[in-house]
Amino acid sequence: MRKVIYPGSFDPVTFGHIDVAKRAVSIFGNLTLAIVLNPEKRGLFTLQERVDMLKQATKGIKGISIDTFDGLLVNFVRQNKANVIVRGLRAISDFEYEFQMALTNRKLDERIETVFLMSSEQYSYLSSRAIKEIATLGGDVARFVPPCVAALLRRKLSAANRS
Ligand code: PNS
Repeated sequence: MRKVIYPGSFDPVTFGHIDVAKRAVSIFGNLTLAIVLNPEKRGLFTLQERVDMLKQATKGIKGISIDTFDGLLVNFVRQNKANVIVRGLRAISDFEYEFQMALTNRKLDERIETVFLMSSEQYSYLSSRAIKEIATLGGDVARFVPPCVAALLRRKLSAANRS
């Protein structure tokens, strides 16, 4: 069985990510969602919060596990004896960034393939950045993210407003 890694920032996880994860696990039978620890890109959520949210959001989906990594993605893929990277494509605007990343990873290790999956069109406009902006401006994100994410967003933002 091919071992498959779905890397990302997941800051926070959205229904779009979950849709891609379900599609991937239905094809490959296994999937590790790998949250990147990027010291240069401070997220709204801590790494532990993202792990907890992803665990809750994917509870009950057979074949999914959650992990974290720092450094090069290809190293993490190799360490896990995996050979496939999954990424979601929402719109043509994603293509250039994804194309560049996939070809860079292929240069670093030509045995690792990147597979792109299209999320459902109902999520094609969704992004973690938009979710954070909507929530910060007082909008309702319940249609876009799992309840655990919406709840943590509310808690984070009300704590930030108090301080
Ligand atoms: O959800 P994101 O932020 O679009 O995910 C980007 C991610 C984590 C896939 C990308 O930043 C990554 O692979 N980072 C690890 C560093 C790396 O391997 N860089 C070289 C490939 S471009």
